[in-house]
Amino acid sequence: MKTRITEMFGIEYPIICGAMYLVGEPKLAAAISNAGGMGNLTAGNYKSGDELRNAIRETKKLTNKPFMVGITILPSFHITMDDHRRNLEICAEEGVAGIEVSGTPIDKLGMQYIDMLKKAGVKMFHKVGAVKHAQHAEDVGYDGIYAAGIEEGGHPLKDDVTTMVLTPKIAEKVKIPVVTVGGIADGKSMAAALALGAEGVMMATRFMATHECQIHDNIKQEIVKRQEYETTLICKSINLQGRAIKNKIVEEILEAEKRGASLTELAPLITGERCKVAWTTGDVDVAPMMMGQSIGRVYDIKSCKEVIEGMAKEAEEQIKKISKYF
Ligand SMILES: Cc1cc2nc3c(=O)[nH]c(=O)nc-3n(C[C@H](O)[C@H](O)[C@H](O)COP(=O)(O)O)c2cc1C
Repeated sequence: MKTRITEMFGIEYPIICGAMYLVGEPKLAAAISNAGGMGNLTAGNYKSGDELRNAIRETKKLTNKPFMVGITILPSFHITMDDHRRNLEICAEEGVAGIEVSGTPIDKLGMQYIDMLKKAGVKMFHKVGAVKHAQHAEDVGYDGIYAAGIEEGGHPLKDDVTTMVLTPKIAEKVKIPVVTVGGIADGKSMAAALALGAEGVMMATRFMATHECQIHDNIKQEIVKRQEYETTLICKSINLQGRAIKNKIVEEILEAEKRGASLTELAPLITGERCKVAWTTGDVDVAPMMMGQSIGRVYDIKSCKEVIEGMAKEAEEQIKKISKYF
């Protein structure tokens, strides 16, 4: 395939993994990159600069292909703005291919960080849910946009705009390449994203159901079982909207929100520590597990190579098929 995304990074397929707290680790990132896509090493997994640097170096040992580092700049009990600045410096020093930033844009941490990353050749992508945020990212010097619709797992913007509307709106507005996020799980959804003006796709939930993903097999089986209507938005009431699969803890969170629970009350229910337990023990009810509506289109557990190559082939077939309509 050839789009501005494949050209920018010298990769085979414009299929990119999104940041995944406690999931986006070296083995998965390298497997995705080795399969011709773009892996993601998620900075939030690492408590210190040294840990992040070691993880980048470990990933480099597992692949000589490009991968990105995901930096999520949202309100956090554990990660300060200085930690984010340090992580940006490490990405520049280590010369990673690119970074996926979500939440606060890099310029708010200081324009010098944009200059530093540019000088180091690190491509900057911002994950946004609104046209104005995409425009801002382009204006301050980002290299690309991840346009994330309300279908996505993780933290979709509270504007609640769907991928179907957001991708073309942003692709028509900015000149830098746009990648669709949310609702993507296969070649058909990839073909749709390309038709909407995207030059690549990002997925996270689909990559969890792969052999190389380090989470417990129960969770992978749960992903295969669940349907597209089995995710819900949580934490809207505290301005930290997230999409998670419906389970016992998510019911508790929604009940607490209905009662008007504060962030302090909700904190023990939404802590990342719970995800750590879920991913390692396979308990499907202990944590609010962030996943997208794409879950309804994940039917099997495969290797990253099978996912990526299968998708590209299906996207091509789909585009050939619909071209007969004209
Ligand atoms: C388990 C999990 C953890 C995630 N953690 C983060 C994160 O730390 N930072 C972030 O920006 N997005 C995070 N996301 C969102 C993804 O990067 C991506 O935007 C989204 O999941 C795409 O939708 P999909 O899962 O339907 O493909 C997470 C998603 C999942 C599934």
